[in-house]
Amino acid sequence: MNFHSQVRKPTGVQGIIMARRMNRNHRGMMQWALDHIDVSNITSILDVGCGGGGPMSQLSGKATGAKFTGLDLSIDMLRMTCKVNSSRFKEGKLRTVRGSVSSLPFHAGSFDTVFACETTYFWPDLRENFRECRRVLANGGRMILVQEAWDAPQWRERNKSWQKGFSMRFCSLEEYASLLKEAGFARVTTTTEEEQGWFVMVAETEGN
Ligand SMILES: C[S@@+](CC[C@H](N)C(=O)[O-])C[C@H]1O[C@@H](n2cnc3c(N)ncnc32)[C@H](O)[C@@H]1O
Repeated sequence: MNFHSQVRKPTGVQGIIMARRMNRNHRGMMQWALDHIDVSNITSILDVGCGGGGPMSQLSGKATGAKFTGLDLSIDMLRMTCKVNSSRFKEGKLRTVRGSVSSLPFHAGSFDTVFACETTYFWPDLRENFRECRRVLANGGRMILVQEAWDAPQWRERNKSWQKGFSMRFCSLEEYASLLKEAGFARVTTTTEEEQGWFVMVAETEGN
């Protein structure tokens, strides 16, 4: 596996180096996202594709009453998430589960929030995977997406090179929103940072 392909499923020593880099590189975007959404009332949150746990540690600074579940394909990422969020883990407020977004190993309505940062690019079937995220949310719950890329004319050249280097897939903001609605979400709100190309999308279920 070459180093760049580690973003898809970081594994082993190279994966840990990549995850450290992602934790650093995603910090500014997460800080910006957290300035634009209120996470203070979250009680139970599933972080899908939690990677090295950096975004989770930023979230937990604001969602202080939340219990966290980190899910990832990679066991090495789950270990790193526990290490990076060790105080939460020791308090019993963090558990990690190995799995895929394709088939989430949780009962319907288990969480009030599903969070996904920089991971939908790699999901096998966005329509079905958003449906699965909706299934594990309670009515009144929300899905939060944070990403540093989407498909738009101004990003197409850059996206092409990322697609090639990292095997990523991008949708337009409208496509993400419409897939979320097809998956059963009632309302979708998007905020963008046009200079950096970041966005935060909040998809609300009925009952909000
Ligand atoms: C680019 S990393 C982002 C990690 C972290 N969310 C962050 O922002 O730093 C993508 C993560 O998504 C995970 N991932 C990829 N496909 C997945 C799938 N089908 N189900 C669950 N996790 C997945 C990878 O293992 C990897 O840890």
